[in-house]
Amino acid sequence: MSGKYEDKIQKLLSEMTLEEKAGQLRQCGPSLVGAFEVSFEELLDMMFDGRISQEEFNRLMGTAKQDFREEDLKAGRMGSYNGIGDAATVNRLQKIAVEETRLGIPLLFGYDVIHGFRTVTPIPLAESCAWEPELWEKTARVAAKEATAAGVHMTFAPMVDVSKDARWGRVSEGAGEDVLLNSLYGAAKVRGFQGEDLSAEDSMAACVKHFAAYGAAEAGRDYNRVDMSLQRLWEEYLPSYKACVEAGARAVMPAFNDINGVPCSVNKWLLRDVLRGQWGFDGMTVSDANAIAECVNHGIAADRAEAAQMALEAGMDMDMTSEAYIENVVQLVKKGAVKEEVLDQAVADILRVKFELGLFDHPYKTSEEREKDAMLRPEYRAVAREAAVKSAVLLKNEKVLPLKKDAKIAVFGELAAAREEMTGAWAIGADGNDCVSLTDGLDAAGVSYIYEAGIKDGAVDEAAVGKTAGEAEILLCVLGEHKEQSGEAASRADITLDPSQQALFDLLVKTGKPVVVILFNGRPLAIPQIAEKAAAVLEAWHPGVEAGNALADLLYGKENPGGKLTVTFPFASGQCPMYYAHINTGRPGGKSKFTSKYLDTPLEPVYPFGYGLSYTQFAYSGEKIVRNEDSFTVSVKVKNVGERAGDEVVQCYVRDPAAKRARPVKLLKDFLKVHLEAGQEREVAFEVPFRSLGYYDWDMNYVVEEGEYVFYLGGSSAECLSIPAVL
Ligand code: NOJ
Repeated sequence: MSGKYEDKIQKLLSEMTLEEKAGQLRQCGPSLVGAFEVSFEELLDMMFDGRISQEEFNRLMGTAKQDFREEDLKAGRMGSYNGIGDAATVNRLQKIAVEETRLGIPLLFGYDVIHGFRTVTPIPLAESCAWEPELWEKTARVAAKEATAAGVHMTFAPMVDVSKDARWGRVSEGAGEDVLLNSLYGAAKVRGFQGEDLSAEDSMAACVKHFAAYGAAEAGRDYNRVDMSLQRLWEEYLPSYKACVEAGARAVMPAFNDINGVPCSVNKWLLRDVLRGQWGFDGMTVSDANAIAECVNHGIAADRAEAAQMALEAGMDMDMTSEAYIENVVQLVKKGAVKEEVLDQAVADILRVKFELGLFDHPYKTSEEREKDAMLRPEYRAVAREAAVKSAVLLKNEKVLPLKKDAKIAVFGELAAAREEMTGAWAIGADGNDCVSLTDGLDAAGVSYIYEAGIKDGAVDEAAVGKTAGEAEILLCVLGEHKEQSGEAASRADITLDPSQQALFDLLVKTGKPVVVILFNGRPLAIPQIAEKAAAVLEAWHPGVEAGNALADLLYGKENPGGKLTVTFPFASGQCPMYYAHINTGRPGGKSKFTSKYLDTPLEPVYPFGYGLSYTQFAYSGEKIVRNEDSFTVSVKVKNVGERAGDEVVQCYVRDPAAKRARPVKLLKDFLKVHLEAGQEREVAFEVPFRSLGYYDWDMNYVVEEGEYVFYLGGSSAECLSIPAVL
């Protein structure tokens, strides 16, 4: 290494004891101690499996105090904390590290700032539907400003796990099923989190996760195995992490899963050969929580010591919470099982990031004063509102939206008034009370409505629903998922609506009045009946603090929906994984029996990737292709043929119909979001380099084949103009 800080790092390394080196590799969360005799994890389990009630859990938590292991910290046995997001605690612990440890090495504070810190913005899946890198960067900047004010130095984000399986709960945390979208989304987040200069007070290091292919967990079950060809791994899964590394991300989190039998936490090929060797990454790696020790469960290490040895040798620098490193590393080096230079390299990676963050010069990057007025500023709320508007996808509209201000509406569904549900998964710095629910938003917009939750004790209250519906002309039915139904450890085998929600919808449809469905959810749902019977469907996802205001803007036409799906909505759960970039098979699905399909579902998804409506309409024409020296320029005219201004995401796909390895029927190559006034037309051109048309052949050579290609241009993967090309 010949970077800016290498001399300083070498000097520090030469002064450190083995114990202090092992300490630098340690990251802990505060553990909870209280009037309960079991571990916090056990206590959580007891609450979840009903051994204690929620009230009892809350009471016990009230007695808990956080233990920061300060004796260890003073002894230089702590390099980093996670999950601490308040300036006072951060600065108090930092002071101990700087003033009371032998070498005064500052601590690094990591935190899950996934979609906002206090100003919660839409979940990543939602935000990806805006197809707008500038927006993705802007919301990350807001997150960085708040989180750094609270003392955070590194966020465990972005998550760029391409996920094609709607059953996987963590679909909510990434940019959906497409590799290009995840790449652009991740790179924008890295820029937003890290800012121009990592040492600035409002910059935080980005930790790209989960390296790699966590989103391909078999059967969509969280933490499950990933077994796939190397070709597929390189084409469909690795590019999004690489894009983040190229954007300058300073940390990478290896994933929980194994790839072809080797857990990512101890996968030398992944962490050394690919990440550092081929991609030139010189930041730090930090394990996922407890993941190093879990290599024993994977059946790959005999015990925690062996797991630690394997992880360190594979290139895992920091141990998040498993303690396998702090317990074993010194001994492993002393007995020669791990070379000290391997340990030194891991320590150097961590120190490098600490130097780059400016922690040696300014260990206290925040103060309680700064923290106090850094949160939920009006300008941050404005960004959150813009993001929530742009994330929403209009899935159906039989001319019922936008609503007229004086329309008599009734609102149903408990999610309509559930502020805390608006944050969605992974919003640990959030306060649910900051959120504007849909009913709050309608109130603020000054529209009148009647509200009836409609479901009591798990069943529809038919009398109350019937009475309220009778008093209105248009029925707004709010359906979807609670925030715990997506995110980590929230895989679902059945992605239909909860039966009581379905019953509520059915009852409303029976009235014969138009039913407008608003969906709050963290993943695609299998809702063909809603698609068929609702008069309009607006997919709002989990939109964050400004949920209700953004929805009121959209419902009443102050804003025009422009989002497009970044995931496919299947007809039934059993079709998962269902995604647009599939291969054709030898017997593509069709009318005849012996083709690739299910007997009991239609061939097509309910809503395809790239799909989304607007209050205006767009028409495509004039598709053209020009062959340049080393690229094609494909272009198309798009015209706003409706009556109001709107945004359209123009998409460009390609197919290689005769390659040496079967290629996807369509693969997104580029896109552009355009704003068009009513009647306005614009030509949109994409330059597609020949090099980007390649793929990995059987022997893992990247090849770009001469011959025929087909380009597709349009406003949805399912509705495009096609144009042939020859290379
Ligand atoms: C586990 C999750 O997989 C990861 O995404 C997260 O960053 C860590 N826990 C820390 O909370």
